[in-house]
Amino acid sequence: MKDNSSDTRDTDTRHTDTRATTRKVLVVGATRGLGLAVVEEYVGRGAHVVATERSDGPSGLRTLAERHREAVEVERLDVTRPEQVAALRERLRGRTFDLLLVVAGISLAPQEAVGVDIATDDFTRMMETNVLGVMRTVEGLDGLVAADGTVAVMSSGQGSVANNTSGGFEVYRATKAALNQMVRSYAVRQAGGSRSILLLAPGWVRTHMGGSGATLEVSESIPPLVDTIEAQRGRAGLRFLDRHGDDVPW
Ligand SMILES: NC(=O)c1ccc[n+]([C@@H]2O[C@H](COP(=O)([O-])OP(=O)(O)OC[C@H]3O[C@@H](n4cnc5c(N)ncnc54)[C@H](OP(=O)(O)O)[C@@H]3O)[C@@H](O)[C@H]2O)c1
Repeated sequence: MKDNSSDTRDTDTRHTDTRATTRKVLVVGATRGLGLAVVEEYVGRGAHVVATERSDGPSGLRTLAERHREAVEVERLDVTRPEQVAALRERLRGRTFDLLLVVAGISLAPQEAVGVDIATDDFTRMMETNVLGVMRTVEGLDGLVAADGTVAVMSSGQGSVANNTSGGFEVYRATKAALNQMVRSYAVRQAGGSRSILLLAPGWVRTHMGGSGATLEVSESIPPLVDTIEAQRGRAGLRFLDRHGDDVPW
């Protein structure tokens, strides 16, 4: 899945202290791909991570949690199941996280044009997961985030309306644009608060979703993305940023 954000810079030298050694992090959608890489990156920096899967069974996350029993806890959450969001909130009640990052997302029938080929069920499932499910998760779990913590969502450069000059991936783009708009409304409701609210564009990355033709390895996307999340700590309000911390046009 192509990401329209800038892919030209390889390193970010502006941020100095992004080690995150004492952080408590909650990552939703972490069995594989970018979510798993975020968990691995935070564990490598010394953080404690609660990471979610939507079903049990072998996964990269399970393997990582076996290797780092003290640092990684695995929890269950399908973002399209509101009762599971409520149940996770209850299980985590009394704990405080520095960061909530919702990574979960899907891309079905990516090449099909809306109104021509897309099956209604595919359209509905993408909107339900990428928009409604993500927002229910954010709103359901944000009470677990410290008052000066970070609420972050994995968006995409393809969510940028301004940058859509090439077309394609029509429904996926629309889900991320809708997600961005929802997070803007959410941020308006949080006005005056101290939290950093981030929409993140990781670049076009070789994962199950990104495909083998993507321009970036996971290792080129996630370490700078985590640097960017950490560099935004304590900066209240909403930003739509690429992995290097540069603004993505809305
Ligand atoms: N790869 C890219 O180039 C790229 C670019 C821009 C943005 N993104 C965004 O980054 C995020 C991760 O993408 P990826 O490339 O890592 O994709 P991926 O390898 O397909 O991983 C998607 C993850 O989301 C989880 N997930 C899917 N539906 C879920 C649900 N209903 N509830 C909870 N978890 C669910 C999956 O869990 P299961 O294992 O259970 O399926 C999996 O852990 C997505 O939001 C995507 O839109 C990706």
